[in-house]
Amino acid sequence: VTEQSFIMVKPDGVQRGLVGDIIKRYEQRGYTLKGLKLMNVDKSLAEKHYEEHQGKPFFPKLVDFITSGPVCAMVWEGKNIVAAGRTMIGATNPQASAPGTIRGDYGIDMGRNIIHGSDSVESARREIGLWFPEGLAEWTPVAK
Ligand code: CMP
Repeated sequence: VTEQSFIMVKPDGVQRGLVGDIIKRYEQRGYTLKGLKLMNVDKSLAEKHYEEHQGKPFFPKLVDFITSGPVCAMVWEGKNIVAAGRTMIGATNPQASAPGTIRGDYGIDMGRNIIHGSDSVESARREIGLWFPEGLAEWTPVAK
């Protein structure tokens, strides 16, 4: 099934210069880029994005971190992108992420874990609406 997912390079990934590698991984896998922007995140957007974590002890740190510097917000499209995209990212805790995954190749820290990917088709729909209220690029790539 063709799906869309919201994928975001977090401030640590942008600062470390990992945006290019991350885009390359999704491109070479065969996914289609539908939205892309580098942006600073205000508190309101951060709290909405992480609303399922409101009330958890790590919530304030989550909001502080995501608002600490620019993020690279993206929408990728393709077959099973939500689940397959998360497999490419690796486990939430980078210490448990397999080598070859984005977190497994670049991180060891639970808070600063480089990248976000939607965890379900429903979350993806919500997050894409939140981060790209202006809409997405319309195009269809030739078959790869
Ligand atoms: P992500 O899956 O992108 O979105 C939720 C984030 O919360 C997750 O990445 C982690 O960075 C963070 N997180 C989840 N669980 C914990 C935890 N127990 N302690 C600190 N941070 C956490």
